[in-house]
Amino acid sequence: MGNRFGRLFQITTFGESHGPAIGVVIDGCPPRLPISVEAIQLQLDRRKPGQSRITTQRKESDIVEILSGVDAGLTTGTALALLVRNADARGEDYSEMHQEYRPSHADYTYQKKYGIRSIEGGGRASARETIGRVAAGAVADALLREAGIEVLTWVQSVEHLRATVEARHVTLAEIESNPVRCPDAAMATSMFDHIDSVRKAGDSVGGVVAGVARGVPVGLGAPVFDKLEACLGSAMLSIPAAKGFEVGSGFEGTRMRGSAHNDAFYPSADGAIRTRTNYSGGIQGGISNGENIDIRVAFKPTATILQAQETVTAGGEPTTLAARGRHDPCVLPRAVPIVEAMMRLVLADHLLLQRAQVGATWT
Ligand SMILES: Cc1cc2nc3c(=O)[nH]c(=O)nc-3n(C[C@H](O)[C@H](O)[C@H](O)COP(=O)(O)O)c2cc1C
Repeated sequence: MGNRFGRLFQITTFGESHGPAIGVVIDGCPPRLPISVEAIQLQLDRRKPGQSRITTQRKESDIVEILSGVDAGLTTGTALALLVRNADARGEDYSEMHQEYRPSHADYTYQKKYGIRSIEGGGRASARETIGRVAAGAVADALLREAGIEVLTWVQSVEHLRATVEARHVTLAEIESNPVRCPDAAMATSMFDHIDSVRKAGDSVGGVVAGVARGVPVGLGAPVFDKLEACLGSAMLSIPAAKGFEVGSGFEGTRMRGSAHNDAFYPSADGAIRTRTNYSGGIQGGISNGENIDIRVAFKPTATILQAQETVTAGGEPTTLAARGRHDPCVLPRAVPIVEAMMRLVLADHLLLQRAQVGATWT
């Protein structure tokens, strides 16, 4: 249960951190979309471990294999199966965790829920599960590109360090210009040094990933339970270590009055109806209004740290646990392509839903 996401563009991810392989099956992808193994690999390379000294040092090349659903570089309309084999699993790093629950990780809840769990590497709770999402996001990107939709995500803040970034103008080149994936170059250097010093202290930090979708047509999303922001929020909060979601002005909007917060409409020169400001984050009444969709996702500090922490054994005895193993001192730089993939998957699904129910946007 709970391994499937989306309704028309539907993905099912599978695989455990220290099992033989991880992957995804995509059902409902339209035919004749251009897809290459390189385009999927590019996104997986942005997610993979060992990218710099501020990410986990697990050595995985995360090479993707396309098993089905693509012929001569085009999707065929049948199920796509994408597979990545695990290479550098070291179960012995987790030997003490057979007995001791990692504070703020999934060990205790998985054990209590199922009465059994894949202990090595956290099984399905490991961020390796997100390989399937990122691979599927690259396929969703082919559909979105055709519709003129571009999605970008970046690191907005790390603990107290906050970048000054204009979501409207951010470019992929700026984001990828440094290992933190923060488009504010000066701030990226401070963030890198900060994460590195926290790593050396055997500790961890969290922060915020921001995202923008440009070129989204009016009409994606539906009233009530399928509001676009509700679907985006659900997608984002399904990412491991994600703890908060905002759209548009988010929590900051609570400090404004309606007179300042309302997005005034005006007729633009090209005949479209636009808004002067975008505190709505591109979504009104749960439906996209044609402005940029602006979101932010909060990530907690990584649970597994090298310092000794109070916990209990599986038998309920108090003890302390100082983790071994290779862990991310800050999940943010690697979370960027995951947030991007989830945003693409939601938009691709809603694009197909809109085409199925309405066909076009009414004027
Ligand atoms: C890119 C990424 C990398 C992560 N790396 C680690 C890690 O090295 N160690 C760890 O304990 N948690 C890591 N996490 C978070 C855990 O997977 C997550 O905290 C755990 O599954 C418990 O779920 P929860 O935090 O959502 O409650 C990572 C998350 C992401 C998105």
